[in-house]
Amino acid sequence: MELSKIDVYAKSIILQAGDRIRQSFSEKWTIETKADANDLVTNIDREIELFFIEKIRAFNTSHKIIGEEGMGEKIQSLDGVVWIIDPIDGTMNFVRQHRNFAISVGIYVDGIGKLGYIYDVMRDHLYHAIEGQGAYMNDQPLKALEEISLDKAIIGLNAVWATPNKRIKHEPMIELVHKVRGTRSYGSAALEIVSVASGRMDAYLSMRLSPWDIAGGVMIANEVGAIASNLENQPINLLERDTFIIANPFIHKEIVENYIELK
Ligand code: IPD
Ligand code: CA
Ligand code: CA
Repeated sequence: MELSKIDVYAKSIILQAGDRIRQSFSEKWTIETKADANDLVTNIDREIELFFIEKIRAFNTSHKIIGEEGMGEKIQSLDGVVWIIDPIDGTMNFVRQHRNFAISVGIYVDGIGKLGYIYDVMRDHLYHAIEGQGAYMNDQPLKALEEISLDKAIIGLNAVWATPNKRIKHEPMIELVHKVRGTRSYGSAALEIVSVASGRMDAYLSMRLSPWDIAGGVMIANEVGAIASNLENQPINLLERDTFIIANPFIHKEIVENYIELK
């Protein structure tokens, strides 16, 4: 299989999708809620997912597609070529901030990450990686992650996990917040993962992410040496929703072992 051919095609459809999203700001969107009142979806999320499905089917009918909005296949295994797509990651930011959202695409072959893309649409920053060939932002190589200690780290964390909650003991999280140099929360898992890959942030963790939130970003971050796992330090599973951490390799184990106590 020619990954370079898929790469050229993937980039071209991602950039086209980005053009369409920017153009949509002059239109009136339909905004609905999904699982709860804060889980938003717009007609543009759905339109962009459908655009990818049509373009991928036109490219190769044997490729399978998993998309957040459910227009792809319901697949039980990662056999073959699988595109895992989030048409807009950070829909709340898309709706409210008109920035800080991304298109996320991961292409896996028999479960192995081969190509990854995160497109920060409003900054026009396209991050990408091809397995074993490094990671790039607009064709500028991203540097391998350098050693850092936890007290100098910036970590991505939703403030809710440092308050009483049903998923994780918050007292060790308070200690973590005090230990590190700073915390950030951007509201787009894809952009938080590429922030780690770019060395702007040193870890990002979440209690519940789906395959399409992480498939593209993990591919990119792996190429610069970041470590991704669930919060029990098990390998990530791209068929299910799970807890998630991605971190600089020098602090991944320390965070998981010393600060995470799931309930
Ligand atoms: C969400 C964003 C958000 C994360 C949520 C995701 P969506 O994706 O990545 O940062 O905290 O868990 O569901 O719904 O905007 O595609
Ligand atoms: Ca998402
Ligand atoms: Ca989404």
